[in-house]
Amino acid sequence: MAASYENESENRFNGNSFSIPFQEIPRFPKSDKRVNELISCKEPVIVTGSDLVGSASHWSLDYLAENIGDGTFNVYKSASRKFKYYSDKKMQAVHEFAPPTQLLEMRFQEFMKLIRSKTNTNSERIYLQQALNNSVGPNIVHEFVNFNWAWASEQQQGNSWGQLTSNLLLVGMPGNVTPVHYDEQENLFAQIRGSKRFLLFHPDQFENLYPYPVHHPHDRQSQVDLENPDYEQFPNVRNLHGYEGVVGPGDVLYIPMYWWHQVESCPDSEENISVNFWYMAGSVEKIEHPLSAQQKVAMSRNIEKMCLEALGDPSEVAPFMKMLVLGRYT
Ligand code: SIN
Ligand code: FE
Repeated sequence: MAASYENESENRFNGNSFSIPFQEIPRFPKSDKRVNELISCKEPVIVTGSDLVGSASHWSLDYLAENIGDGTFNVYKSASRKFKYYSDKKMQAVHEFAPPTQLLEMRFQEFMKLIRSKTNTNSERIYLQQALNNSVGPNIVHEFVNFNWAWASEQQQGNSWGQLTSNLLLVGMPGNVTPVHYDEQENLFAQIRGSKRFLLFHPDQFENLYPYPVHHPHDRQSQVDLENPDYEQFPNVRNLHGYEGVVGPGDVLYIPMYWWHQVESCPDSEENISVNFWYMAGSVEKIEHPLSAQQKVAMSRNIEKMCLEALGDPSEVAPFMKMLVLGRYT
């Protein structure tokens, strides 16, 4: 049974000429028992006062430039507000795929100079997204070691998640948008500086968000532009409903695996800094029917991959699936 702590007030996100109904993401202090209930039901929650990244509360562009070391950082460059993820590995599978962002590698100092040179919100934008690694300087190591690992491990063990895979550091400009997508890992998203507005959608919204095929470079991303939806091409977008919430410094958002999310850096600060904690999926002890929406997404991904592997050509997948379904299961 899914826990339900819904806020009565309904918000509406205005896309082009229709609006998406939103409930507020529940928000509770870490000691509130509803935090554990929601996380164990794989429902999102904003946790306050967890102190997960309290040791990093003073991080700023200047502080990081001074202390993060000489390592190189992945910095994405975009001509628009949007930074839509794509897989390099899957680029060959789609002819004439034009990457919507460009990946640059640079030192943090160089990134800081670049971000400070970009003030006009309509001009080119950049977004640093780099897993924290052992190239960071001693102060950052100290703050990292002093993250509230006890609380993180409580969530990990209490919910049988797999191992921590990475801590992604995100440093961006106000107005940057990560378009709607899902990840295949559990995510504790910790905000350090500035704030971010999240739109979340349950995995049962699959049909309403039209993900790209699994072999496509934009796998796991929605084809729908939520700010300007083409509902002739994607009519089910009209049925979309989701959750909305803003995370500020010290807040942690639990984004359950397979939950869709779109993220926008709010224009409340010059620099926006977050660190996320990605955990592998937990192992499933016992399959219960009917399967959950999450399990169905996992299953559909496996079926797509299997068809592609057996057929050997992405262009054969759609005709094969049509042959299987049309007039038989329709
Ligand atoms: C973002 O903060 O821009 C993206 C975070 C995520 O997708 O996990
Ligand atoms: Fe994500």
